[in-house]
Amino acid sequence: MNPVRSPYAIVTGASSGLGKAFAEELARRGHNLLLVSLPGTGLPVLSDELHSRYNVEVKFIETDLMRAEAPGEIRKYVADQNLEVDLLINNVGIGHGGAIGDYSEAAVEESVFLNMRCTTLMTNLFTEELKKRDRAYILNMGSFGGLLPMPYKSIYSATKSYIYHFSLAIREELRSDGISVSVAMPGPVLTNAHVRERSSRLGFISRSNVIEADKAAAYMIRMMFRGKGVILPRWTIRASYAVGCFLPYKLLLVMLGRIFRGVH
Ligand SMILES: NC(=O)c1ccc[n+]([C@@H]2O[C@H](COP(=O)([O-])OP(=O)(O)OC[C@H]3O[C@@H](n4cnc5c(N)ncnc54)[C@H](OP(=O)(O)O)[C@@H]3O)[C@@H](O)[C@H]2O)c1
Repeated sequence: MNPVRSPYAIVTGASSGLGKAFAEELARRGHNLLLVSLPGTGLPVLSDELHSRYNVEVKFIETDLMRAEAPGEIRKYVADQNLEVDLLINNVGIGHGGAIGDYSEAAVEESVFLNMRCTTLMTNLFTEELKKRDRAYILNMGSFGGLLPMPYKSIYSATKSYIYHFSLAIREELRSDGISVSVAMPGPVLTNAHVRERSSRLGFISRSNVIEADKAAAYMIRMMFRGKGVILPRWTIRASYAVGCFLPYKLLLVMLGRIFRGVH
């Protein structure tokens, strides 16, 4: 008789920030992991730690997800290792901001390739594998900024709008295949030094939307397993969204422009 095999969760951008918090939360729940991040960012140590602390299998791939070939190589690794995958977290992403015309070419490429291309390729390549499970999940990382056009975060918010619409469209497509697709649209999460520094310069209302990475990750994983489509961590974010729906679009854009002009 074949031994019962436990499927793996893939987490991209898993070496720090929300990706690391997702990995920890899933390991705590007893999920095997395949972690993906850049070389030299501590994945071997993190994998050993999670394995010994939570007694789960943790594999890792060190690769640059800016490369168009990387998702295909991850798919090949999973096939070669004969791993079963039941959860894909497309977490990797970058939050460049600035006035249009001032972005470097590298910043534009990072925003488009990491936030959109990598998520799209990973999802496209792993859908058939996920369909083989009785129940499977995809969690894509959008951002609260993807719910509206954001002056001075224009490229970022547009990439996250893409993730929002892409996720909800495939949620409908994959419903009958037993794959639940969720998109998370968090406000500021205290992950890297840049977000911490930017959050400290925000006004009181915006600061009240800030959440710690471990709390945000635990909430998003809980809601994903419940099959929720759009996940907004923190009640203040849900309230801000509800209020925003009643404000005239033009006024909202002027307000957002004022908030973000100096703090992107
Ligand atoms: N933080 C927020 O306020 C916030 C709010 C809304 C949405 N989000 C979204 O949530 C996701 C995670 O955000 P975060 O704040 O946790 O980001 P982060 O702290 O910058 O971490 C991103 C992760 O991706 C890895 N990474 C970066 N470039 C990579 C590349 N080219 N190839 C492979 N791995 C790469 C990083 O590795 P290193 O170890 O080298 O850094 C890190 O593990 C993103 O999609 C972001 O847009 C964040």
